[in-house]
Amino acid sequence: MSAALARVDVLRFRDFVSRKLGLRYEDGKLDELASVLRERMDTLGLAAFGAYENQLRGQEREELRALAERLTVGETYFFRYWDQFRAFVEVVLPASLRARSGRPVRVLSAGCASGEEAYSLAILARENAAPSGARDVRVLGVDVNRAALEKAARARYSAWSLRETSPEMRARYFRPEGRDFCLDGEVVTMASFEERNLIDEDPAFWRPDAFDVVFCRNVLMYFSPDLMAAVVARITRSLAPEGFLFLGHAETLRGVSQDFHLRHTHETFYYQRRDAPEVARAPPTSPRLEPSVPDSPSLEDSSWVDAIQRASERVLQLSRAPQPAVREAAEAPSVRPVPARFDLEPAVELLRQERHREAMDLLHALPESSRSDPDAQLLRAALLTNSGMLAEAVAMCGEILRKDELSAGAHYLMALCREHAGDRRAALQHDQAAIYLDAEFAMPHLHVGLLARRSHDREGARSELGRALTLLAREDAARILLFGGGFTREALVALCRSELRASERTS
Ligand SMILES: C[S@@+](CC[C@H](N)C(=O)[O-])C[C@H]1O[C@@H](n2cnc3c(N)ncnc32)[C@H](O)[C@@H]1O
Repeated sequence: MSAALARVDVLRFRDFVSRKLGLRYEDGKLDELASVLRERMDTLGLAAFGAYENQLRGQEREELRALAERLTVGETYFFRYWDQFRAFVEVVLPASLRARSGRPVRVLSAGCASGEEAYSLAILARENAAPSGARDVRVLGVDVNRAALEKAARARYSAWSLRETSPEMRARYFRPEGRDFCLDGEVVTMASFEERNLIDEDPAFWRPDAFDVVFCRNVLMYFSPDLMAAVVARITRSLAPEGFLFLGHAETLRGVSQDFHLRHTHETFYYQRRDAPEVARAPPTSPRLEPSVPDSPSLEDSSWVDAIQRASERVLQLSRAPQPAVREAAEAPSVRPVPARFDLEPAVELLRQERHREAMDLLHALPESSRSDPDAQLLRAALLTNSGMLAEAVAMCGEILRKDELSAGAHYLMALCREHAGDRRAALQHDQAAIYLDAEFAMPHLHVGLLARRSHDREGARSELGRALTLLAREDAARILLFGGGFTREALVALCRSELRASERTS
């Protein structure tokens, strides 16, 4: 028997899956979802979707288990994203051991799949948490997929799971058995696993100060924004003050939570829970972004702002459009930096006309309360940067970042100012933060590409300028206006192209 399904049934099923498991399915993936639904109905001997819904009402828990096993993505392996584990060993673990002063550090692997992440943490804790990792650190793995948890409990893995594990670690912690590898018994005792749906509210589990470190990597990216925010709120509540949170590379807290400081060490990003006193102390330039980029050798002594201005004559000629008015008009309607409580549109218009001083005067004339409005602040910071009032721009960006460390725009403007002040290392860190926080943001890629080119890093220049070129094609018009230093999309694209060509020539 094969169940007949109407589109409306599949849509109802999608809604159920989204509410109960958090998983989001775009329209393009409805067929995939329909085939899982059909398979479940066939297995249960149900011909109509209504009958399946009745079954759900009676045995929701069991059915959710079956669905979780089919719908979740369990891809994982030992020591995945090694940089994050380095940060765990060298920053997070020592800080957590100190904070716990003798009591065990509690680590949660949320969405642990078949246990590789949890056991990687246990191995590293054992190696690094003297005197006895086994006593000092406890790792709990939770997941909604019971089959994956059973595999975690067996602690027996294929060579594929160990593809990023060094031969030394492999020899020390794994015993070959047939074609598989069995994990060291003592490491196994450091971790435990339980079935848990992150969507479920459970105040006892998510109680305050339950964990010191949470790894929740490559889980939230499948959730709808609302559910992601709810799960992050739960994690935040259960983290100890100044506890740490690691997300996957494609996941950020931008727009989701302002309860964390952004940390940047070991060439990776992670988060540390804010606490009120520390927020009050936070200096303006976000120095918690620790150095992660080596000093560039003998760069020319001029900033991107200068470089872009020098290039502008040539570039503007290249990019001068046959019908510039038409293109400007085409871009104008999508410019939307200001759905704000204050009418920023006149100031934006002045920015478009490069009448920066007048735009700032207009902003100044707005009600006092506009001073703390994030849109008005970002506009002010962009105007200050464009006008070369860099000390003031730094102060404004610092104010924005104190309230919202995850503002990609403020990090980018800060990068321009830092470079202008001769601090290329800090400039690169802020660019990297902007890129991490918003993978679609073209301007920091362009900036990093230009910096790389001027430090004769041909590969770096090629990859960043190429990325900027791709992103510029679809970059939001409002962002080009705010962050493009007075250049149109076409001018920036032409700049990217000519710099790419030049970097080929000089190689
Ligand atoms: C791609 S794996 C990530 C494994 C590991 N964290 C890593 O990064 O290597 C995603 C895991 O999240 C789990 N997951 C998805 N939705 C979940 C939910 N609502 N509650 C708990 N776990 C969930 C899946 O079952 C899957 O095992």
